[in-house]
Amino acid sequence: MRILLAGGAGYIGSHVALVLLEAGHEVLVVDDYSNSSRTAIGRVENLTERSVEVIDCDLADLTASRAALHGQQFDAVIHLAGLKAVGESVAKPAHYYRTNLTSTLNLLELMADHGVNKLVFSSSATVYAPAAEGVQNLDEDQPAGTGITNPYGWTKAMNEQIIRDIQHSRPELEAVLLRYFNPVGAHPSGRIGEDPSGIPNNLMPFVAQVAIGRRDRLAVFGDQYPTHDGTGVRDYIHVMDLAEGHLAALDHLRAGVATYNLGTGEGQSVFDVVQAFSDASGREIPYEIVAPRPGDVAKAVADPSKANRELNWRAKRTFAEACRDSWAWQSQNPNGYSAG
Ligand code: UD1
Repeated sequence: MRILLAGGAGYIGSHVALVLLEAGHEVLVVDDYSNSSRTAIGRVENLTERSVEVIDCDLADLTASRAALHGQQFDAVIHLAGLKAVGESVAKPAHYYRTNLTSTLNLLELMADHGVNKLVFSSSATVYAPAAEGVQNLDEDQPAGTGITNPYGWTKAMNEQIIRDIQHSRPELEAVLLRYFNPVGAHPSGRIGEDPSGIPNNLMPFVAQVAIGRRDRLAVFGDQYPTHDGTGVRDYIHVMDLAEGHLAALDHLRAGVATYNLGTGEGQSVFDVVQAFSDASGREIPYEIVAPRPGDVAKAVADPSKANRELNWRAKRTFAEACRDSWAWQSQNPNGYSAG
């Protein structure tokens, strides 16, 4: 298939592009480079020895997107374009709603223009309500779309609803919503990886920057949670496993909207992450305990059995491999994609 990959130059998008190319698909990337890099796509081309067509375009601008895609043919859309910084979304909610919702509405309209019915959407475990007492791993039937603590998370839940409603009005639409848990790691070559702009919001890139010496120490957001060591527990999934989940979802598309968790089913605490990254890098990770971050939950771990069963997909790589690959990326590219 020829696949329009919206947001294909970003962290997850570049790994999805690589996996699609290796599976024999053609990839058309649409990206506005607001939080991504042309270099990433160049490296994907080198790694796969395949070429990728790239359209520099803001999907929130329908007129410009129509013009940019005029005459282009594609069979399916994988939509990973969007703003994703939780704190920024609290400060600039209108910007987040406008960008993340408009780009989805526009993509759905562009799909109709081009007679395309296949859509894989990048959703997030953030759509789940905090787990009720006694619930261990989150399956797709857990309550979602309530108790979300920031506009970024709401845009994911709202985009899911937009896709469901539009599918209802266009029954030929085949959509899969992928609820990512916490993507980490990098391609094992260390050539592509996560390059957050500014101070990383997320744990793994922050820890990697402490290990390389770009940051002094990690702030651990709370050590009094009801978890095995008091720090927050998450389901960290290797980005290559996550990327392969998109390939599996493409193979599974059929009329309707299906929802899948992409996670490992295993939980790691903040201290577990610090230890594993220290082992992988051979560096010490200094840290201090600070107050919990507002909006954080104690634990969020996937029940990935629906994706295992129906998509014939499972996360295969270990957390130690994710740390090793993340360190390969960080140590070979201490300043990410910028040369400085
Ligand atoms: C966060 C977002 C989520 C988003 C996801 C991917 C919040 C509340 N949630 O998930 O909406 O989909 O990123 O972008 O922001 N931690 C530290 N110190 C740090 C950073 C994190 O101790 O400097 C801890 C957190 O408290 C948490 C764990 O590490 O227990 C993971 O945090 P993070 O990587 O930000 O992911 P989430 O909070 O799960």
